[in-house]
Amino acid sequence: MPTAMPRSMVAGNWKMNTTLAEAVQLAAGVRDGVAALNGLAGVDVVLCPPHISLQAVAEAVKGSAVKVGAQNMHYEASGAFTGEVSPAMVQGMCDYVILGHSERRQLFGETDDLVNRKVKAAFEYGIKPIFCVGETLEQRESGRASEIIGGQVRAGLDGVGDISGLVVAYEPVWAIGTGQAATPEVAAEIMGGALRDALGSLFGPAAAAIPLLYGGSVNAGNVESFAAQDSIHGSLVGGASLQAEPFLEIARLTAQAKASL
Ligand code: 13P
Repeated sequence: MPTAMPRSMVAGNWKMNTTLAEAVQLAAGVRDGVAALNGLAGVDVVLCPPHISLQAVAEAVKGSAVKVGAQNMHYEASGAFTGEVSPAMVQGMCDYVILGHSERRQLFGETDDLVNRKVKAAFEYGIKPIFCVGETLEQRESGRASEIIGGQVRAGLDGVGDISGLVVAYEPVWAIGTGQAATPEVAAEIMGGALRDALGSLFGPAAAAIPLLYGGSVNAGNVESFAAQDSIHGSLVGGASLQAEPFLEIARLTAQAKASL
């Protein structure tokens, strides 16, 4: 028997955008918009600002339904790691942390092993990982998308026991920031297939409760078609999360699509 349906989520990954003042303004806009929509029952709204704005954004959304996530973190609690930010530092400022984003993997050389350490550290500190996987265009075109996704899931979540709070995002690299979103069918094929299978083989029936997000050129014009898929529980939004209105519209359309399933 499958366990409870995963909750829906719309998370905004602001990447390396927004100054402190812009971050606070954007967070306040989303907070007020979510409140005006009566909290968007059933859809968790998460904002992931740059580290330097985490505290201020956490303050801005305090007491509202909006949650905060970090975009990355180191796995050690402290030490000689110039420029890094530790789980102990972000703990208390955020509920979530994005880990294994393809930009971290591709531009900053993060390996499956490093991502795995970070995921374990997040659980240790009670921070919920939004664990990202995704294949490149070359990997997809050579017919290896499923194999790559399965491999990233097994390696990144190796040794993880308690999965409560875990969120997994499928972000095909070729769809990120390109304006070329995957079709809902292509996304659902992976998310209801190789991704679900890999999670199931690691965690058994409990895996059915893990929310799966699609990411890659999500906007207010295409989000409904993703949210209409049973195997897709929400989205991880980059560019379209940098302004309150389109992001709120994405959250509203997700709630509407999920309510009518
Ligand atoms: P875009 O929505 O800008 O394509 O970015 C997706 C993403 O990488 C979110 O983590």
